[in-house]
Amino acid sequence: MSETIASTGESPSIGTGLAWGVKDSFLRYITTMPGGSATTSGDATTTRDGSFYFATADQSGFDTTALTGTIKFSGRINFVGHFGALSVSLVDPWLILDSEGGSLSVEWGTGPESRSEIVRVIPDAPVAAGSVLAWRAAETFLSPLAVAQFNSVYRAGEPFAPLAIRVLR
Ligand code: HEM
Repeated sequence: MSETIASTGESPSIGTGLAWGVKDSFLRYITTMPGGSATTSGDATTTRDGSFYFATADQSGFDTTALTGTIKFSGRINFVGHFGALSVSLVDPWLILDSEGGSLSVEWGTGPESRSEIVRVIPDAPVAAGSVLAWRAAETFLSPLAVAQFNSVYRAGEPFAPLAIRVLR
């Protein structure tokens, strides 16, 4: 399944997916340096407010009553800076929710073996609207497993941007 969320404000279609700004200060760092860029491809798009949207790929592993399981999203962001010396890819995020909280993992651009947790997630209470269940602002904190990917500039537990998540009920 791949649907489109009304992320641009131009389309009235309400769908499912993951919207995430990653981290404001990191985006500012990348986009204001000479030769820096943040580009999306595949099922990811950049939203009008400069955030990123990933389409839903598979929610069959998620129990919408118990609110546990895995939701797979699809799409790619490439961050490039310092004319290529900085290169970070976030590919196909997967969100796992359980009774303890959540975990968002990505492939770091070198295939399925590169998948690891990027942020720990503390979900807010989801809201049901029609056929969709939405978390508007799930808090995120940098995983110890992803510190090196950001050049060890941020410590584990550093706040990252909140997630907006929409799944079919
Ligand atoms: C190629 C050589 C690099 C140079 C000369 C460099 C230089 C800098 C400088 C000067 C800052 C401070 C910027 C500011 O406060 O506005 C900074 C911040 C940062 N750099 Fe680099 N950097 C390099 C490579 C990298 C690489 C490979 C990464 C990996 C992702 C990285 C990630 C970061 C992050 C995450 C910050 C903090 C951004 C923020 O949240 O404010 N840097 N870097």
